Amino acid sequence: MMSKSKNKIALVDRARPLDHQQAPEIQAFGHTTRVPIALSQNVAKQSVENLNQILADTCTLRDLYKKHHWQVAGPTFYQLHLLFDKHYEEQNNLVDLLAERVQSLGGVSIAMAPDVAETTIIPRPPKGREEVPVQISRLLHAHEIVLKEARSMARQAAEAGDDGTNDLLVSDIIRGNEKQVWFLSQHLVDVPLVKAD
Ligand SMILES: [Fe+2]
Repeated sequence: MMSKSKNKIALVDRARPLDHQQAPEIQAFGHTTRVPIALSQNVAKQSVENLNQILADTCTLRDLYKKHHWQVAGPTFYQLHLLFDKHYEEQNNLVDLLAERVQSLGGVSIAMAPDVAETTIIPRPPKGREEVPVQISRLLHAHEIVLKEARSMARQAAEAGDDGTNDLLVSDIIRGNEKQVWFLSQHLVDVPLVKAD
C-alpha cells in the first residue's frame, strides 16, 4: 500500500511527459519481416529493395522541383514557379505511396535526407541558381532515370507475382512521370513567341 503523500506525488508525476526515452530499433533497415499478404519472403524482399531505390530517386526528383520552384528566373518565372510546385506536390504524393508500399511488404522505407543522398542515382545539382533551360534539362534527365528503373522494376514485379507493386509502378510512377515529362519538355520546344517564322 502506498502512503497518502507518496500517492499524491505519483499522481502529480503522471502529468510529466516521459521524454528523452530510448530503446533499440524494432526492425533493422534491410530486414523484411513476414506479413500475411500471401507473397513469398523472397518476392517481398526483392520488391522492397527496388521500391527503396525508386523511393530515394523520387525524393531527389521531388526536392529538385522545390529547388527550381524557389530559384527559377526570367520572363517565364510565374508559370514555371507554379508548374514546378505542382509537380513537387505530385512527386511528394508518389513518395508517400512508395514508402507505404515498402512498409506494406514488411520492409523498412528510406526516409531521411542523408539516406536518400547515399542511395539516389540522380546526379547532385549545384547549390547555386541555374538558367531555365538547364533547370528543365536537369529535371528531364531525373525523370528519365526514374522511368527507366520503374519500367524494369514493374516487369520484375509482374513476373514475380507482386501485382500490387507492379500496379503502383505502372499506374502511378510511370504514368505520372510521363505526364510531367510532357509538360516540362514542351518548354524546350523552340517556337516563336511573337512573330511567326
Ligand atoms: Fe512556394
